[in-house]
Amino acid sequence: MGDLVLAIETSCDETAAAVVDGRRILSNIVSSQADLHAVYGGVVPEVAARHHLTTVNAVVDRALAVSGTSLRDVDRIAVTGRPGLIGALLVGVATAKALAYAAGKDLVMADHLHGHVAACWLAPVALDPPFVALTASGGHTRLDLVEDYARPVLLGQTLDDAAGEAIDKGARLLGIPYPGGPGLEALARDGDPTAFDFPVGLRSRGPGGLDFSYAGVKTALLYATRDLGADGVAACRADLAASYQEAIVRPLADRLIRAAAQAGVPAVSIGGGVAANGRLRALVEEGAGKHGLSVAIPDRALCTDNAAMIAAAARFTEPIPWPDFVGADAVATAPPGGIAA
Ligand code: KG4
Ligand code: ZN
Repeated sequence: MGDLVLAIETSCDETAAAVVDGRRILSNIVSSQADLHAVYGGVVPEVAARHHLTTVNAVVDRALAVSGTSLRDVDRIAVTGRPGLIGALLVGVATAKALAYAAGKDLVMADHLHGHVAACWLAPVALDPPFVALTASGGHTRLDLVEDYARPVLLGQTLDDAAGEAIDKGARLLGIPYPGGPGLEALARDGDPTAFDFPVGLRSRGPGGLDFSYAGVKTALLYATRDLGADGVAACRADLAASYQEAIVRPLADRLIRAAAQAGVPAVSIGGGVAANGRLRALVEEGAGKHGLSVAIPDRALCTDNAAMIAAAARFTEPIPWPDFVGADAVATAPPGGIAA
């Protein structure tokens, strides 16, 4: 079986396509709609779906052209089947089905979260199990034990807001446009992370708990900005940003390191949009170093939504032959346990 995969990802507000040969990325094209949604302060599902529709063919063409391959050369076509915005997912799934039918290829319906975990399977990181994976994105925050890429096992997750959601909402309170992560990180660079004592987002279910909670820190920032008033906020925006960022990313790094120690594995990885955060990357590296763990930190472009990670997840997901894939459905929600591998 050849290993050349064309992958498509349209679960949220990035239209993405990639061609991946085994662990080697030949192209990874992302067309972001973020500017379109920024005026609304968040992703508008209907706008996202319509924009995917106008963009997806060009993005697929570009991914094939940059990779120097054609549709005929690829062995399988992969697409994000869940979870995500249903209208947005449907555009990718319909496109992938049409291409698979036209080219006579099998279709792989991949899971978006599985993709964030599998991103570190790709070169140049190319991490092999066992390890503990942190996935922190706009919709999810979780730790998985990966003893086999095909079956990540949930160890802990957020009990309320996702880390990225808390980042975007906090950024908005500080006047940073959607998506808030990169802007918050830039502002935090000039601030003091100890200036404000925001509650750290940890919560335990039982001893050695590995869960997270981000509703409290968001409310704490809201109260702090109210107490300070507009002029007060303006005077210490960078300190607020740095302290808020610290309260969100430090528990991610701490829990990841602790989870690896508890599971007795020699390595950790990070993924998801929040893993593009420089402070988180530094804390994870530092924590892993202290505990003698190896660490896989994929390029920022492989942390935020992209299609190469969907090709990686597809490597560990059963392909569906024609005509069975015609009945394969996009699903908005994550399955019980969180990852449909
Ligand atoms: O994985 P992703 O691209 O999309 C989802 O699957 O949700 O993650 C998006 C999230 C957003 O909340 C965004 O603000 C956050 O990742 N993000 C960051 C950074 N870049 C993106 N958060 C902190 N620092 C960053 N540099
Ligand atoms: Zn994502």
